[in-house]
Amino acid sequence: MSAQDTPPAVELHVHVEGTLEPELILELADRGGVALPYVDLDDLRARYAFTDLGHFLELYYANMAVLRTAEDFAAMTTAYLDRAAAGGVRHVELFVDPQAHLARGVPLAAVLEGVSGALAAAPAGMTTGLVPCFLRDRPAAEALEVLDALVRADVPLLGIGLDSAEVGHPPADFAEVYARARAEGLHLVAHAGEEGPAAYVTEALDVLGVERVDHGIRSLEDPALVRRLAEAAVPLTVCPLSNVRLRAVDTLADHPLVAMLDAGLAVSVHSDDPAYFGGYVDDNHRAVADVLGLSLAQVRTLADNAVEAAFVDDTRRAELRAEVATWAAAQESAPTS
Ligand code: HPA
Ligand code: ZN
Repeated sequence: MSAQDTPPAVELHVHVEGTLEPELILELADRGGVALPYVDLDDLRARYAFTDLGHFLELYYANMAVLRTAEDFAAMTTAYLDRAAAGGVRHVELFVDPQAHLARGVPLAAVLEGVSGALAAAPAGMTTGLVPCFLRDRPAAEALEVLDALVRADVPLLGIGLDSAEVGHPPADFAEVYARARAEGLHLVAHAGEEGPAAYVTEALDVLGVERVDHGIRSLEDPALVRRLAEAAVPLTVCPLSNVRLRAVDTLADHPLVAMLDAGLAVSVHSDDPAYFGGYVDDNHRAVADVLGLSLAQVRTLADNAVEAAFVDDTRRAELRAEVATWAAAQESAPTS
């Protein structure tokens, strides 16, 4: 095996709260005097077998109780960035869920100061951006208020996203939020077609005007949508280990990633909530390469697609393209074991 068996990564779909590892949850609880309903690490870990997205979200939101101060948010973000750098991440666009913290009485300033401060001190050579997501199972009016507060806050924002429980919460509910974000010059992405229908992907494109779709795997159920996504090269940020752990697919071997590649979709591979789903972006790349038997050309396409989908300037995109090309050339000339 080569020194780095997975490509230099551009991580476009990772929720910072989903990087909170069980050990850090207990450490932050201890430090902050937060009472948790778990007797120990094993007890906490035993709760990571999920039946669906809703079941995961219960634990994901419950564990946020340990995030109270800017220092807590910084500790979580720094731990993520260190792990990401070790796994070959060169650029990350990080999701954060402000409403999940505001609802617990944590000021927006603590969230932004902690996460943005850590991003500003990212490991050498790694570029970063912050993408707050709105919780689609909360009112759009609340999202509008939070968007206003985010825009007024003195932190750099790359774009906005839409996450949380998908079914029954169509993208169109957030039309005004996205229109306002667009007017602010923010990039637009949304989760769609994870558990929800292909029609939500179409709606995210048509009504919200998203530039990228997070997940989007159920797009395959609508051939006309697949053709449209392929022709317009709409990036889809696919999270294979997440899809298995949330039972969107039965096993990794059943994952539609290769079908998506074969359909000409601009798919790339990401981690979603790595502390909950069994792996970071390098683990996801390794798992799909092994289990789906991807060729080097297919892995290269995934890596290239992520570079093209990133919200970076021409100079940075050229650097990222060159890093992937250098990696691929080294793989080609490496002796096979
Ligand atoms: N889907 C929707 N919302 C989320 C997820 C996810 O996988 N992770 C964190 N919030
Ligand atoms: Zn996600």
